[in-house]
Amino acid sequence: MSIVEPIPQHVAVIMDGNGRWAERHGRERAEGHAAGIEPMRATLRAAQRHGVKYVTFYAFSTENWGRPAAEVDALMELLCCCVASETPDLQRQGVRVRIIGDRSRFSEKVRSSLDRIEADTAAGETLTMVLALNYSSRDELRRAVCRLAGEAAAGRLAPEAIDERCIAAALDTHGMPDPDLVIRTSGEQRLSNFLLWQAAYAEFYFPEVLWPDFTEEEFDRALAVYARRDRRFGLVGETRR
Ligand code: IPE
Ligand code: IPE
Ligand code: MG
Repeated sequence: MSIVEPIPQHVAVIMDGNGRWAERHGRERAEGHAAGIEPMRATLRAAQRHGVKYVTFYAFSTENWGRPAAEVDALMELLCCCVASETPDLQRQGVRVRIIGDRSRFSEKVRSSLDRIEADTAAGETLTMVLALNYSSRDELRRAVCRLAGEAAAGRLAPEAIDERCIAAALDTHGMPDPDLVIRTSGEQRLSNFLLWQAAYAEFYFPEVLWPDFTEEEFDRALAVYARRDRRFGLVGETRR
């Protein structure tokens, strides 16, 4: 499929529907999560083909800790396995991995896997893959506010100097462009605490496909839909040019 410009610089993906996919195939939920790895690879391939620079995957929310222990354990195991198995391919493809979210709640084993994949892929220059892990937007904002309040209390930051740039710089996503396009699979149309600040002017796309069935062609379709959107950023007429 030929894609028309413009290409989004940053695509953020809410990978939803693994559980329903498993149910439909008579499998355990954990198998649905395992089936969600290949679509991540496909998304990265397609993103690189189009020249997308950042892809963020919502992989585990702070709220997801409330799921049954067996499912949470399976997700942690999958995370550690994938970090080990995917690193060589990511390095070959020039993909840099960056983690957002509060990693202090993870076990030592998971934390060291995350540190390792970030360090091992730090030289990647073609695309940045951002993994949102133990992430929620409200928690990210809470942590940022704590940090800024600490700076202010210590006399290093004047409260009136806190502007939007300052807040953005205190978020986990500091230094990254805001997402241009947010894709959520499985037909659900909500953000579920994902990038609330950063997605202020993002375009949204909600395909019905369940995440394990997402393909490169689905990604191409999302970019074709994005290319037809008219992003106005609150402006009209000649002020937009
Ligand atoms: C998304 O799939 C993956 C995670 C939240 C980790 P779900 O597990 O939410 O799948 P459904 O929504 O139950 O189908
Ligand atoms: C959002 O999906 C979180 C991830 C995809 C990691 P959920 O399935 O947890 O969200 P809700 O519960 O449907 O809002
Ligand atoms: Mg879900």
